[in-house]
Amino acid sequence: MLDPRPGDGLLSSPVELPAGLAAVASQVFGQRLGLAERYAAILAGAGVQRGLIGPREAPRLWERHLLNCAVVGELLEPATRVLDVGSGAGLPGIVLAVARPDLEITLLEPLARRATFLDEVVGELGLSTVTVVRGRAEEQASRLRFPVVTARAVAPLDRLARWCLPLVETGGRLLALKGASAADELVEHAVEVTRLGGRDTSVVLCGSGIVERPTTVVSVVRGRTGKSGGRRPR
Ligand SMILES: C[S@@+](CC[C@H](N)C(=O)[O-])C[C@H]1O[C@@H](n2cnc3c(N)ncnc32)[C@H](O)[C@@H]1O
Repeated sequence: MLDPRPGDGLLSSPVELPAGLAAVASQVFGQRLGLAERYAAILAGAGVQRGLIGPREAPRLWERHLLNCAVVGELLEPATRVLDVGSGAGLPGIVLAVARPDLEITLLEPLARRATFLDEVVGELGLSTVTVVRGRAEEQASRLRFPVVTARAVAPLDRLARWCLPLVETGGRLLALKGASAADELVEHAVEVTRLGGRDTSVVLCGSGIVERPTTVVSVVRGRTGKSGGRRPR
């Protein structure tokens, strides 16, 4: 267990890595496990204190948040540029940066309080591969374009596609971390996702055979949009 580090800018509260998850965490984070432990401690300390993480989440940070997000790295090619939309306290963006130092990650978050927290975490953990941008996804299309865009618990799939597909390079992918209802959501919003230029949609499980409950991800490839560029006809 880590000692709290008094004097740090970010309050940290040590989180016991449950014995049953130690081997999995070690497999997923490798030599960066210590960094993941420091991030877990920050989430349990400043994250909870500042209201970015519910207090009830603290005991299940590893299972529900860190491991659940880290296994999505399976879908990412080496050295990929990733935009994490609506990063909140850094999920999945910070976790991916910790587990995969080869990735170049941008965290997009509109709320000042959260963006400040993300900046502080990046500084505290020395994550030189991470950039924090404050803003709303739907206002970034002229500025940001990435081969992979991730989003977890940000919006229903139709709204997420409207906000995020314009931020994905043609041929790149939107990876939406969803719960058990992922397949239903995909069926419900299939027409809208296609109209917005989404192609080759699928539901993918990450972490099978590694974590107890694999992470469900909706993957949408950005195809070429038609003349309307995905806009509704007038
Ligand atoms: C429920 S939180 C999820 C945070 C984090 N992804 C997680 O899984 O814990 C939703 C986040 O999306 C952000 N958000 C809401 N609207 C957004 C928008 N239009 N563009 C980008 N982020 C947005 C919120 O500020 C918030 O941090």
